[in-house]
Amino acid sequence: MTDLSATAADCGCACACEPSEAELAAGLDAIIVEYREKPGGLIPALQTAQALFGYLPETVIRKIADGFGKPVSEVAGVVTFYSFFTLHPRGKFVVRVCLGTACYVRGGKEVLDAFKKKLEIDVGETTPDRMFSLEVGRCFGACGMAPVVMVNDDVHQRVKPALVGEMVNQILSGNAAASAKETA
Ligand code: FES
Repeated sequence: MTDLSATAADCGCACACEPSEAELAAGLDAIIVEYREKPGGLIPALQTAQALFGYLPETVIRKIADGFGKPVSEVAGVVTFYSFFTLHPRGKFVVRVCLGTACYVRGGKEVLDAFKKKLEIDVGETTPDRMFSLEVGRCFGACGMAPVVMVNDDVHQRVKPALVGEMVNQILSGNAAASAKETA
């Protein structure tokens, strides 16, 4: 798979390396060329495009549909079917609160409410500063540690609603420290 994600974000360097419009357009063209002839190439093309843009705006969906010779409605249907695709920009930290049975009965809903209150957003939304997005999940396979929350790839176990505010503050201070280190 073409790895274009490093050009979009989190490349780890201290430079201001947001890709330009022209670079994004060229990247999307390359993705279409790479996948359009491959059987089952639509999903990896969409995944790679999402890594490049951070989400799948309508213009990207239209261009991919055009490149693959498919109706826009078909490509849009694939995007909305799979939960790992997003039509909206996501925050740097994607908080996913498990609402599977074990987590739900052990307070997952209260944990979700605490995140909503702390971040002042609803499920499916992103904070105005693009730091946090809030989502729900259905069992992360860690039911014995319920309620479980994932923040990007990190699993947080036995999360207590009363400690959600502190958890968010710790993520923010860790992010600030990492940013300071990168620019030092
Ligand atoms: S129900 Fe939440 S991890 Fe299984």
